[in-house]
Amino acid sequence: MKIKEILKSDKYGDQVVVKGWVRTKRTSKNVAFIALNDGSTIHNVQVVVDLNEISEESIAEATTGASVAIEGIMIESPGSGQNVEISAKKVTVLGPADPEVYPLQPKKHSLEFLREKAHLRFRTNTFGAITRVRHAMIYAIHKFFNDKGFYNIHTPIITGSDAEGAGEMFRVTTLELNNLPRKEDGSINFEEDFFGKETNLTVSGQLEAELAALAMGEVYTFGPTFRAENSNTSRHLAEFWMIEPEMAFYDIHDDMDLAEEMLKYLIRYALENCMDDLQFLSKRLQEEEKNKKQEDRAPMELIEKLKFVLENDFERITYTEAIDILRDSKPNKKGKFQFPVDKWGVDMQSEHERYLVEKHFQKPVIVTGYPKEIKAFYMKVNEDNNTVRAMDVLFPGIGEIIGGSQREEKYDVLLKRMEEMSVPAEEMWWYLETRKFGTVPHAGFGLGFERLMLFVTGMGNIRDVIPFPRTPQNAEF
Ligand code: 4AD
Ligand code: MG
Repeated sequence: MKIKEILKSDKYGDQVVVKGWVRTKRTSKNVAFIALNDGSTIHNVQVVVDLNEISEESIAEATTGASVAIEGIMIESPGSGQNVEISAKKVTVLGPADPEVYPLQPKKHSLEFLREKAHLRFRTNTFGAITRVRHAMIYAIHKFFNDKGFYNIHTPIITGSDAEGAGEMFRVTTLELNNLPRKEDGSINFEEDFFGKETNLTVSGQLEAELAALAMGEVYTFGPTFRAENSNTSRHLAEFWMIEPEMAFYDIHDDMDLAEEMLKYLIRYALENCMDDLQFLSKRLQEEEKNKKQEDRAPMELIEKLKFVLENDFERITYTEAIDILRDSKPNKKGKFQFPVDKWGVDMQSEHERYLVEKHFQKPVIVTGYPKEIKAFYMKVNEDNNTVRAMDVLFPGIGEIIGGSQREEKYDVLLKRMEEMSVPAEEMWWYLETRKFGTVPHAGFGLGFERLMLFVTGMGNIRDVIPFPRTPQNAEF
């Protein structure tokens, strides 16, 4: 039986078998207490071992980290804050964990230390909670779209195109690196490579999702994406998961409405289904906040913050309005921004996004109408021929959580944009053809799954909300 079920049960006297890992063992004269966890809940079940019936020696190896099978009887718990505990009839140690060398002791370990023990960190309260919340969010994403009639599309992981045009791709090749086939002019002959052309890991499933949307109506991809950007920040991964809905007949406003509805749905789902874990993560965060200076502390505890986002409309402003606010802001005038905001046209940095959200509006913000120069080629150009129908959703503590846009559906305009931005139109003939045949207004966005996870769990570093983070110089586990 899973511990989650045992703790909810009131079938006192029933026999159970439970298997898991020992968190702690305390021994007194006649009795030993084992706190057991099996990953099904943040809570441990207390196993009571009567040392007159089961010898102390036979449970000597049931130390922290050891795996055990317990056969016993569910009894009403006299204290311990829980209703049920297990009176053991038989304890079998399946796999011991030598306390001299087992790295996880029953005390608080730093997140940095646990990153170096990523193979074991699932066994801590913190990573157990994050893993369960992550699963719940994956499930909720599929449920949200399924209930709305969207189709899930598997877009390719190996592609020949750079959807974002940012050139931050990991190459995929079977060519021998120290013996590359060359053409006459000395350049590498990729015709001899596995796919007969240059290929890389995808940075986004959007372009292929668009093809599907222009037949199926409303679709979404939810897959791994890869970016070789060398940014060692607490919000960037080289391998992350992205949710990308793409909808025919949507304009930019429909797109924003869907983004806000989806984020609220997911947060509500977490509040309704993950409360035990969220409460634990909230307490954890509050402990951590105590070590911070007053002015750096988060204004709300985790659960309050999640409810706040549910209960308030996101602020919607244009890029031009955002730049005006930033230019006149205190930190800009006092030279506190690392990147000063002096003129229209500059790209917004995460410090600017966070100022807008955390200081100025004090709620999530959606920014639209960015200069076309700083956005991707596929975004629909506005009548001013200067801005595009982009929309970024900015969240407290994070900055950009969603990036999206209405797409350019006009063949001629799109072709011209591709040429202006040096996007190889010949190679993207298939993308362009959708604008030749039955083109329609459409829109979509990308939600960074790990950024959502940062928000929902209150964790501060993106390396801690994905089981096996990939970042520059780091692919150990
Ligand atoms: O803004 P981005 O680059 O947009 C796209 O890729 C579009 N094709 C999406 C679309 O319209 N279908 O990325 C979308 C989101 C960002 O807002 C951010 O949350 C996340 O993906 N993201 C990252 N998350 C973790 N690590 C990184 N290196 C990320 N880069 C982007
Ligand atoms: Mg973006």
